[in-house]
Amino acid sequence: MKKMVIEGGVPLRGEVAISGSKNAALPLLAAAIMFDDSNNELFNVPDLKDVATIRQLLVSIGAEIKDEGDRVVINTSCINKYEAPYDLVKTMRASVLVLGPLLAKYKRARVSLPGGCAIGARPIDFHLKALALLGADITMDHGYVEATAEKLKGAEISFPIPSVTGTENAIMAATLAEGTSIIKNAAREPEIDDLILALCNGGANIKRVEPSTIVIKGVKKLNRLSHFIMPDRIEAGTYMAASAITKGEVVLKNINAVHLRSVIDKLEEAGAKIRIISPSSLMIKGPKVIRSVDISTAPFPGFPTDMQAQMMALMAVSSGLCVITENIFENRFMHVAELRRLGANIKACNNFAIVKGTDHLSGTEMMATDLRASASLILAGLVAHGITEVSRIYHLDRGYEAMEKKLASLGAIISKVDAATPSNDNEVANENILAEKYM
Ligand code: EPZ
Repeated sequence: MKKMVIEGGVPLRGEVAISGSKNAALPLLAAAIMFDDSNNELFNVPDLKDVATIRQLLVSIGAEIKDEGDRVVINTSCINKYEAPYDLVKTMRASVLVLGPLLAKYKRARVSLPGGCAIGARPIDFHLKALALLGADITMDHGYVEATAEKLKGAEISFPIPSVTGTENAIMAATLAEGTSIIKNAAREPEIDDLILALCNGGANIKRVEPSTIVIKGVKKLNRLSHFIMPDRIEAGTYMAASAITKGEVVLKNINAVHLRSVIDKLEEAGAKIRIISPSSLMIKGPKVIRSVDISTAPFPGFPTDMQAQMMALMAVSSGLCVITENIFENRFMHVAELRRLGANIKACNNFAIVKGTDHLSGTEMMATDLRASASLILAGLVAHGITEVSRIYHLDRGYEAMEKKLASLGAIISKVDAATPSNDNEVANENILAEKYM
């Protein structure tokens, strides 16, 4: 087990290169299942635990994956199994993204129900309804989704609320269906448009005809996947918040500034000075006084739920009072109790939290509970007085590539060290269970 040890108080300065998007890489790796070529390639794939998990899943069903320089080469022509087992799906619910591709290509799939996770129940009912509308026969069997289809036929799918991976699964299943599908109330996250671009470059016929409406004209086959993955907008937002909270001055490279509009607006409202240097780089200077700003998460293009925890850390050291409302997930305030250990003045009730900024936080030991909560605790440690230790940072490794190295290159006093081995067998067992229970 590792932990992060941080000595707070250093304003971050310098340049940081943002990695490829986790939430674009996962559906794109799953989409490789649908291509006939044995030499599919993805560039800018981030080195993350979640990416390793979906690679492991693809290999477990017969795909061959290898790293060749700056690209990942995927040969799915030898897939001979169609099951995503519980021991993989339970560690990463995005494994359900193989459901649509397997059904599209092989007309069969057996995928474990993901189960809940730290931030919520995370059901997949929207996914299953969409696949059933396309002609799949969906049954449940001992905690597994069994999906089969004679053939998939175009249909009209309307999501009750926008679902990112639900939209992605529906797009992938419809891509090889007979006829035309229309997806209404489709999610608008840019990772979906990255997937659409890659599928179309490989022979699919997909158009986002309105912001929330996607039309898919089914094709018989896809030839080759070759795609450069878009930058990770949540990693970028996290480093922007790191610059703001430490009153630093940081240049981010390899970003897509268009994807960051709502985060840029919110950080400017809080007093940060942000200059767009080019479409792929920006400079952010933290304010002397951080203004308290209300935050309400929403589907894209609203303020992203994946940035809520990071912004709460920033608001914990702001100059006044604000309300943070989490509208997407039912349990995404796990970082509140940990931030209060540093001296943050936060009161959470149901899906909103009242944050009263304090002029300083005091370093102490904390425990990460989920991916973005871990980032929030690291940000707080960058500004807390003294030493902060964050344990269970396997959560962080799921979605942030070498965070301690990137922060250290900006001047942070941070290192990833071995955590003291748990003192008894129960703790070891508990750590191992938790280490498995990813989102
Ligand atoms: C994606 O999760 C992201 N993950 C999440 O990022 C992100 O927080 C989330 O979208 C919201 O933006 C990936 O893209 C791999 P949803 P997803 O379906 O698709 C409910 C991170 O930190 N819902 O858009 O699972 C659901 O409970 C992760 O990188 C149903 O009720 O989220 C939630 O309340 C965390 N039934 C809402 O919809 C369903 O069938 C939106 O969820 C599906 C979703």
